[in-house]
Amino acid sequence: MELGARAFADLGDYRDILGAWLTQDNVSAWIAEPDGERRGFTVIGFFGGDDNVADLLAIAVEPAWQSRGLGRQLLDHSVAVAAATARAGRLRELRLCVADDNFIGQRMYRTGGFHRVVGEFGAYPGGQRAVRMVYPLLTQP
Ligand SMILES: CC(C)(COP(=O)(O)OP(=O)(O)OC[C@H]1O[C@@H](n2cnc3c(N)ncnc32)[C@H](O)[C@@H]1OP(=O)(O)O)[C@@H](O)C(=O)NCCC(=O)NCCS
Repeated sequence: MELGARAFADLGDYRDILGAWLTQDNVSAWIAEPDGERRGFTVIGFFGGDDNVADLLAIAVEPAWQSRGLGRQLLDHSVAVAAATARAGRLRELRLCVADDNFIGQRMYRTGGFHRVVGEFGAYPGGQRAVRMVYPLLTQP
């Protein structure tokens, strides 16, 4: 929660946002502890409904641990979890929103197999536009 609040301070009050997500049964979080301490996390929401999509809600890595591969590991784990869920059910894509000025995040997602969706996806409380990116899980209907 502390790391999330700091990592996303420009976007809004993520202490409250993460807190609200993490109380939901259909939201899961994984924490990276490369040296036994909590250095990063990923959060996925499985909201279901007609869309059959999972939402990658947040990934963050402690600043001192960034650019050392932890974000990539968390992203790969998120995709693996979503892909396993897709094989067990009808999940068709893992999607996310990232701020339009977050070029490092967008690059990580793009090189991780996500592609950008054209459209209007709203804005963060901090004023940044939301960019939608998706990772297709099932290619067959
Ligand atoms: C985005 C974030 C999670 C990346 O974590 P990380 O541990 O630093 O990332 P990694 O070292 O695993 O690198 C993963 C990819 O991120 C990108 N990246 C990481 N550091 C970068 C840098 N200094 N400059 C440019 N791209 C960078 C690259 O695409 C990299 O993959 P590549 O080296 O194969 O090209 C981290 O910077 C962070 O916590 N940022 C604040 C929160 C945030 O923006 N989260 C994402 C939006 S939800």
